[in-house]
Amino acid sequence: MDKYVINGGRKLYGTLEISGAKNAAVAIIPAVLMVNGRCRLENLPQISDTDKLLQILTLMGAKVDFISPGTVDVDCSDVYLSDKIFPLTRQIRASYYLIGSMLGRFGKARTTMPGGCNFGVRPIDQHVKGMKALGVSVNIARGLIDAEAGNGLRGAHIYLDKVSVGATINVMIAAVMAKGRTVIENVAREPHIVDLANFLNSMGADIRGAGTDVIKVRGVESLHGGTYSLIPDQIEAGTYMAAVAGAGGSVRINNVIPRHLECISAKLREMGVEVEEYGDAITVRREGPLERVNVKTQPYPGFPTDMQPQITTVLCMAQGTSIVTEGVWDNRYKYVNELRKMGAEIQVSGKTAIIEGGRRLTGAPVAACDLRAGAAMVVAGLCAEGTTVVEDVVFIERGYEDMVGKLRSLGADIIAVSEPDPRMEFASRPRLIG
Ligand code: EPZ
Repeated sequence: MDKYVINGGRKLYGTLEISGAKNAAVAIIPAVLMVNGRCRLENLPQISDTDKLLQILTLMGAKVDFISPGTVDVDCSDVYLSDKIFPLTRQIRASYYLIGSMLGRFGKARTTMPGGCNFGVRPIDQHVKGMKALGVSVNIARGLIDAEAGNGLRGAHIYLDKVSVGATINVMIAAVMAKGRTVIENVAREPHIVDLANFLNSMGADIRGAGTDVIKVRGVESLHGGTYSLIPDQIEAGTYMAAVAGAGGSVRINNVIPRHLECISAKLREMGVEVEEYGDAITVRREGPLERVNVKTQPYPGFPTDMQPQITTVLCMAQGTSIVTEGVWDNRYKYVNELRKMGAEIQVSGKTAIIEGGRRLTGAPVAACDLRAGAAMVVAGLCAEGTTVVEDVVFIERGYEDMVGKLRSLGADIIAVSEPDPRMEFASRPRLIG
């Protein structure tokens, strides 16, 4: 089991580079399945979720060549459906994007229900609604998803009942290869949706309106290969901005799109943090006290839900009482119990957390409950007095490339420790038989 050991209380100084956007990568890699030719993907984050998706494509007959760190060639000229992908598809949330791309490529799809972070119910009814509108029959049973476009994918006018990143992406992918025109209303507007649309259009698709609340797709016969460079990860950037806000110091963060960070920057400025924007970089500086604020997470361009654990953690250090309201997920406060082990005073009621600030957190052994909660534990450890041990960092490494290296380059005292898993030791003990 891997863990991070952090000695907190040190301010952060220096420069770091942001990697490619995880949530763009986990949509673009499944979409590559529809491309009949070689795709070169650049600025791909080196994280376990992208590794798993590349393995899945390989198991379906794709040729994957690692050209250099962050650059991969994927050739899906000769791909096929295979049940061998199931052990991997049930581990990650984004595997359900394969439904859209399998339908686009083969006219049918066979995969498992997705995995992913556990913060409440994560239904896929809007994905199913969109696929059915495109002429697809969908059967979900025993944890498997079987879908088929009996008479081929055909364009439709779809109104999503809920703003959903996943449903927007999945339906947009399938619509690329549908006959005729598709209009999808009430869609999500996240930067990674725009990035996916730009990727698909660069391979010959015809998508308009990504980034607004209506996406229009004119179906095409096929997609050709090409080269595409992913956008930087605004949540990774936001996480390091929160770390500087909490620990103090002055850091320049390179390879960002400041517009994607506007809501995070605005909230940090409200808290008394200095944020300066440059073309593809920002600087974050905090020397004085942190002010309390209220935060409500919303779909983009609102304050991102994937920054909720990180900002809640930093607000423990702010002067006064802050209120955080989770506007997207039903139950995204499991990590608060871990923060309480470090001395945080937080009351959670439903989707609202009330944070009593002005505290100095103290180091403690804590666990990463999920990807962003794990990142928040690292932020807490950087701010705390004493030593924090974050367990189950496998969750963090799903979505953050080289977090330990990047933080150490800023002067943080953090190391990654691999220890044998005691459960495996116990299981491997010889048994007295008979
Ligand atoms: C994506 O999840 C992200 N994951 C999540 O980030 C992120 O928190 C979320 O979007 C919101 O921005 C990936 O991109 C891989 P949704 P997704 O569909 O697509 C409800 C991270 O930290 N809903 O936008 O699963 C749903 O229950 C991860 O990187 C339905 O009701 O989120 C939720 O309340 C964690 N029916 C809301 O919509 C559906 O069919 C938003 O979910 C689909 C969703």
